[in-house]
Amino acid sequence: MPVSTSLDVSSIRRDFPILAQRVHDRPLVYFDNAATSQKPKCVVDAITRFYLLDNANIHRGVHQLSERSTQAYENARVKVQRFLSAADSREIIFVRGATEGINLVAQAYGRKYVGSGDEIVISALEHHSNIVPWQMLCEEKGAVLRVIPINDRGELELDKFEKLLNPHTRLIAVSHVSNALGTTNPVREMIGAAHRWNVPVLVDGAQAVPHMKVDAQNLDCDFYVFSGHKVFGPTGIGVLYGKERLLESMPPYQGGGDMIRSVTFEKTIYNSLPYKFEAGTPDIAGVIGLGAAVDYLNLIGLDAVAAHEHELLEYGTQALEGISGLRLIGTARDKAAVFSFVLAGVHPHDLGTVLDHEGIAVRTGHHCAQPVMDRFGIPATARASLALYNTREEIDALVTGIYRVKEVFGA
Ligand SMILES: Cc1ncc(COP(=O)(O)O)c(C=O)c1O
Repeated sequence: MPVSTSLDVSSIRRDFPILAQRVHDRPLVYFDNAATSQKPKCVVDAITRFYLLDNANIHRGVHQLSERSTQAYENARVKVQRFLSAADSREIIFVRGATEGINLVAQAYGRKYVGSGDEIVISALEHHSNIVPWQMLCEEKGAVLRVIPINDRGELELDKFEKLLNPHTRLIAVSHVSNALGTTNPVREMIGAAHRWNVPVLVDGAQAVPHMKVDAQNLDCDFYVFSGHKVFGPTGIGVLYGKERLLESMPPYQGGGDMIRSVTFEKTIYNSLPYKFEAGTPDIAGVIGLGAAVDYLNLIGLDAVAAHEHELLEYGTQALEGISGLRLIGTARDKAAVFSFVLAGVHPHDLGTVLDHEGIAVRTGHHCAQPVMDRFGIPATARASLALYNTREEIDALVTGIYRVKEVFGA
């Protein structure tokens, strides 16, 4: 498979055995990476090895297996710290995924810092998981949700964002990359603007970390969340990064084992960071699998990944724009390799079904971003979202598949 970037995609594809299969007797083209990415063998092996050789609960044992599993768990925390360029591993909290990370901040930060009449700012591009937790908080506290609008390309209107900031603003929560449109938001600039008002910023990086190097200290974000399963790691595990000072000041999210230093019926003393936010037995194998995924990405290099995907984005955009009746939804100047589109005369669901018969996996629907669909006046799109193992040939297969759809529906 010829590629013109420094990424050896043929070799990378061999790391992902699932990609070699046929679906409906066609070679699988997996273009549903924004929903979840595939796992390299090294991630699966790390999880298997843990269960076969080291499995024990962490932090509470003096025996050999417990020491080994604790060490593997804490090593993974340091890997994630370096992956995000965080200042300290105590700033890395393991959660179930981006969704839980956002809920943790909404509840723990919100409980302490948000009151009646205060304002939370989100954007019109957000995934439901970065909308609903804030709506719940606002309802509970009598606070107000403000929304940064987007233009017809699917880019945030930054001048309007600046106007939303005021002395009542308590937090900004914004995605780094939009799952529905692929737009990459200028989060560094936005964080700078928010900090001039002393307002902290949570960045939802679920769709960013698989595609670009993220440097939390350089961004100066106050919170950053992502999900393991979108970054070639397992499901059920994710990360909340938070600045130590802020995390220290927040009450715990959940109560239980491991998050305490001592408990009496009169008074409980909470554990220090990061354990204060990790109540109960965590997904130990998931954390170890995530650590293996981080190792894998480091080996490949995110700069090479970004260059490869950018080339696919340009190639795919040109190819799809040449199809009559096809409209790309989300044409931001800065975007990830996500093609959201509608085809005149064909419901996205039918489009997805025919493509599946061609062996091509795309997602159809509102992509958990109904306000984005409303903004563009459509109920749904078909979305092809790419990852480091995708190729030009697969984009060609998508284009051929779309012509097949047009033939089937006479569109
Ligand atoms: C931008 C964005 N944020 C948050 C999420 C939620 O991720 P999870 O379901 O893994 O918690 C997603 C999932 O698609 C997403 O795309």
